[in-house]
Amino acid sequence: MGLDHAVTKPHEALAAVLENDMVAVNDLIQARMASKHAPRIPEVTAHLVNAGGKRLRPMLTLAAAKMCGYEGVYHHYLAATVEFIHTATLLHDDVVDESAQRRGRPTANLLWDNKSSILVGDYLFSRSFQLMTETGSIDVLRILSNASATIAEGEVLQLTAAQDLRTDESVYLQVVRGKTAALFSAATEVGGVIADADATLVQALFDYGDALGIAFQIVDDLLDYQGDTKATGKNVGDDFRERKLTLPVIKAVAKADAEERAFWMRTIEKGKQVDGDLEHALMLLNKHGTLEATRQDALAWTEQAKTAMAKLPDHDIRDMLVDLADYVVARVN
Ligand code: IPE
Ligand code: IPE
Ligand code: MG
Ligand code: MG
Repeated sequence: MGLDHAVTKPHEALAAVLENDMVAVNDLIQARMASKHAPRIPEVTAHLVNAGGKRLRPMLTLAAAKMCGYEGVYHHYLAATVEFIHTATLLHDDVVDESAQRRGRPTANLLWDNKSSILVGDYLFSRSFQLMTETGSIDVLRILSNASATIAEGEVLQLTAAQDLRTDESVYLQVVRGKTAALFSAATEVGGVIADADATLVQALFDYGDALGIAFQIVDDLLDYQGDTKATGKNVGDDFRERKLTLPVIKAVAKADAEERAFWMRTIEKGKQVDGDLEHALMLLNKHGTLEATRQDALAWTEQAKTAMAKLPDHDIRDMLVDLADYVVARVN
């Protein structure tokens, strides 16, 4: 395999450019995920952190800081903070979603228990706050603490909205903007802020992260129906089994006839599922073309992300972030 082939994916190109910084970030993550007193903490964190993950959010922070000419070391702290918040939300999310697979491994809640996932998640979350205070910047504290509240708010909104067939696309957008895009936009925004960039650039970075995060979650919801478990490292059909109304289903409910509506009512609202229901749901999504329509929505958000990026000055990292927007929709993992 030639070198060209090895770096065709935009996030790999970005990882290559940010390699030295990512080594520093990974060292910080390893150092701070440890605990002297509670052996369960390194067991659980090593299980999840060493399984990899795309490390997209910390790369966004590093990329934003570098594009804005930052030359200090605090972007490493912020990138590690962002990945810690992400890791904490994954531990909690797999408990809430009762998921069995993450990053190609059994989830921590399955291997240990819910208690360990919740408490280690809390530990990592607290560690993230310790890390960000070390930057000494009240602005980044404000941005990341706001983002953390918004993520939790999005997850809680989803609890009530996801099993309600009246949930429409605007509520769905509110959920994904909260639970997922808030961390993407905070990740890019703090990169600009730590570099002391102009307000207009910081706003453009925020807008890019927001639109990219929305596209990312829409595609995550598509992959839940169309993905390959070997690539995603997560189980296909989880959202349906969990009775989660995501964009492909919201669009199908909007087009449903009486019989189809009764099907969605039984499987999503009442949660009475039998063998073959997932296949029937997929048939309905295909019949109404809602998987394709959902992909088109994701593409529209990536266009918004690119428009925001165009406001930043010329930079090779800027071009990579533009390509990353395409990758987010094309990705299979
Ligand atoms: C998973 O995020 C959670 C979502 C917001 C869909 P990623 O797909 O970035 O997870 P890792 O870190 O690469 O495993
Ligand atoms: C991802 O939620 C958002 C957070 C972790 C807060 P999902 O439940 O949609 O993500 P996956 O599919 O489990 O990664
Ligand atoms: Mg989940
Ligand atoms: Mg979830």
